[in-house]
Amino acid sequence: MYAGAKAVFYSLSRSASLKRLASKYGMRSRDSFARRFIAGETVEEAVETSRHVQAAGLHITLDYLGESVRTAEEADAATRAYVRLLDVIVTAGIERNISLKLTQLGASIDRATCVDNLRRILDPAGRHGFFVRIDMENSPWTQMTLDIFETLWQQEYRNVGVALQSALYRTERDVQRMNELGARVRLVKGAYKEPQSVAYQQKPDVDAAFLRLARMLLDSGTYPAIATHDPVMIQGARAYAAERGFGKDRFEFQMLYGIRRDLQAELSSEGHAVRLYIPFGREWFPYFMRRLGERPANLGFVMRGILREK
Ligand code: FDA
Repeated sequence: MYAGAKAVFYSLSRSASLKRLASKYGMRSRDSFARRFIAGETVEEAVETSRHVQAAGLHITLDYLGESVRTAEEADAATRAYVRLLDVIVTAGIERNISLKLTQLGASIDRATCVDNLRRILDPAGRHGFFVRIDMENSPWTQMTLDIFETLWQQEYRNVGVALQSALYRTERDVQRMNELGARVRLVKGAYKEPQSVAYQQKPDVDAAFLRLARMLLDSGTYPAIATHDPVMIQGARAYAAERGFGKDRFEFQMLYGIRRDLQAELSSEGHAVRLYIPFGREWFPYFMRRLGERPANLGFVMRGILREK
């Protein structure tokens, strides 16, 4: 079931007609169904959402949605959009933290284009004190993502970190490597349908790996982000940190905008740093479908939303 739902929603996410239908109704008004997970299609809406989130005492990272671009022009446009986003964030005075995907910057075209584009973002980001997180995409991209990250790390870029997925067998080695470098890691379970040759298929295995990796990051990582809505994972990390006498400033929790607001508020009120991943932009459909795949019960509110809007 765990892998099954992901597979179904993954194939649906490639359906052009479903995308058209969802795009028509998903963002039409403030109450439309996709708004639960996505701040809006414009940067102004993302800034407004960020202000609300920060006013509630939480931190933010902004993600300009887009992935798997096919041409150098599209990758260039995404890069320019990110550079503009930095300016907007500085002017708005909200927190300086962004997340991005390498296939949005041209990883599928060629590696050099992608590295150049990433540098075009990291340079101004560094000058303005931003932290830039590279999201982790599905497993065909894992090695390239980490290679590109290390290339830039060797060039002394330090305002950048990666996300690693507990679902993948390889991740223990990757955590070790990032700990050696002193690089910041966001630990997630993994949002993609992966083959058995590279990834655990059962939730208990993914969860056990998550707790193991979280402990490695808490012991010897650099300000790791424990990114999950799973109360068992959160309690495991929290208890381990307390047992070892690690302060709350040694790590942060991260959650996705719109998911488990109760838990976000609870952790924050206990004095933990909680950062919300806030996505925005017109290309929201694949992100949205991954959220449905994680919790098929979400389909209910989508169907109600479509019927209401029609
Ligand atoms: P799990 O899926 O076991 O869910 C635990 C509980 O959380 C559920 O019982 C439910 O209550 C709630 N929940 C989870 N998903 C929900 C949803 N969609 N709707 C409603 N409730 C839900 N992945 C990746 O591959 N690469 C990446 O770079 C990132 N980046 C990232 C950043 C941040 C800040 C977060 C929180 C997550 C990611 N992810 C990600 C996604 C991650 O891999 C994973 O798919 C989701 O976080 C869901 O897994 P959980 O850890 O929440 O556990």
